[in-house]
Amino acid sequence: MSIADDPDRAPARSHLYAMGWSEEEMRRPVVGIASTWTGTMPCNLTHRELAAHVAEGVRAAGGTPMEFNTIAVSDNLTMHTPGMRASLVSREVIADSIELMGRAHEFDALVVIVGCDKTVPAGIMALARLDVPSVVLYSGSMMPGRWRGRDVTIQDMWEALGERAVGRLDQSDLDDLARHACPGAGTCAAQYTANTMGGVADFLGLAPFGVGDIPAVAEDKNAAARRVGEIAMQALARDARPSRVLTADALHNAIVSVAAMGGSTNAVLHLLAIAREAGLPLEIDEIGEVCRRTPIITGLKPSGGEHTALDLWRAGGTSLVVRRLLEAGLLRENVTLVDGRTLADVAADAQERPGQQVVASVEQPFKPRGALAILRGSLAPDGCVLKLGGKDDFRHEGPAKVFDSENDCYLAIEQDRIVAGDVIVVRYEGPAGGPGMREMLSITGPLVGRGLGSSVALVTDGRFSGVSHGRVIGHVAPEAYHGGPIALVRDGDTVIIDSAAGTIELAVPEEELERRRAAWRRPEREVERGVLTKYAATVGSASDGAVTA
Ligand code: FES
Repeated sequence: MSIADDPDRAPARSHLYAMGWSEEEMRRPVVGIASTWTGTMPCNLTHRELAAHVAEGVRAAGGTPMEFNTIAVSDNLTMHTPGMRASLVSREVIADSIELMGRAHEFDALVVIVGCDKTVPAGIMALARLDVPSVVLYSGSMMPGRWRGRDVTIQDMWEALGERAVGRLDQSDLDDLARHACPGAGTCAAQYTANTMGGVADFLGLAPFGVGDIPAVAEDKNAAARRVGEIAMQALARDARPSRVLTADALHNAIVSVAAMGGSTNAVLHLLAIAREAGLPLEIDEIGEVCRRTPIITGLKPSGGEHTALDLWRAGGTSLVVRRLLEAGLLRENVTLVDGRTLADVAADAQERPGQQVVASVEQPFKPRGALAILRGSLAPDGCVLKLGGKDDFRHEGPAKVFDSENDCYLAIEQDRIVAGDVIVVRYEGPAGGPGMREMLSITGPLVGRGLGSSVALVTDGRFSGVSHGRVIGHVAPEAYHGGPIALVRDGDTVIIDSAAGTIELAVPEEELERRRAAWRRPEREVERGVLTKYAATVGSASDGAVTA
């Protein structure tokens, strides 16, 4: 019985009247519209406007919209600050808050509007928990900036720090680049974490293909948002709830998309977390296997080439990627898409721009294999993630330089204490140890800028920005805070990384490791109160997605 007709819900009706609802509106299906707008970042800056257009679409299709919003944390603004500890934690808080609103208000259907990195997996996780007919609206990428005759993104900004350090840029160049790198609203402008996860939402079937590709500030975006409102009502009519859409086959397709588009290492964490929320079995090694056999077919920064998300949209978008992957038999077709189309329909609808150079074929890809690899070995018995960047396999054997925090390592790079051949180990930055598993872009960017990107390896129980590249290995599990072997490494120990063999070994005799283990004491954490402490007490291993439930 609707609120309008239930005699005992008169008090509830009084609040709906207070918001201007009519009884007719109370009788219609109520569609929750969760926006992750905050005024703290360009990434989600358009969400309020999009929510208004989604609401229009809902109304036009016979529903009543009810808007609410969540927090969101900017990775770029918090990078290299203690605030970065809040980033991954925000994924859980956003998922929890959407879930709570869904449970509280019992929406008939839901639209989640997501953009910046953590908001996309968070929205999907919440939908999996609530399991009402749902649509994801990815708000879209920022346009690339233009500087000295070339397209630039936030990646250029971080790498410019290293170039300044070696004298290739001066401070005025850096400041000038900062004024041009990010020209307006939208998510970071290439295949970094946000766009990677936007693609995941498409391939999971929860977001309509073709909508997320539209840049945040493009004219077509608002009309697409209105269409999403209508699709939510259609999804309600077809009972297209996440348990019917987000299946094992859809999850497989999402992993293939991450591999084929050279996606971010963070996708590993988020895919594992989404799988757990959806009750689907997924082991970290399966993601590595898909990456090993799937080439990168988009020439996007940072792993596939030099193109930006805008270039992909103009070339034909993710629908064109679907066409190529279907032609090669790499996708599972027995999936339900939220807008009622099939993958074959999406492929047929793709508008390939003649002469485009952004989406290649599987037979002649940009890189022969996906951007990620999963390694295991004595340094990471439960696994870790290598960003291979689609390049050839490599073997790196070198002496460890060990840091107990990201900041100590940053200083060492600034002071030229890192040299070619080194294996940098940054620990106590894991999900529980950080707490919050900070991203290390302030290390990887300057390393690349100094020309050390392919001669120095970086190993950490923290994680990386989607912008990061070079020989970077994160998510080492078990993490140092829980006494994993990474806690036992000492300066000068030999670390051997073999990407072809999928191994990462600490070349220290077992008896010596036993001695170190016996002497090891868990260090005090810098933060021991509030939400980070709550998080640290419940968060699981990175190899299980660092989830808190
Ligand atoms: Fe928000 Fe990159 S910091 S998308």
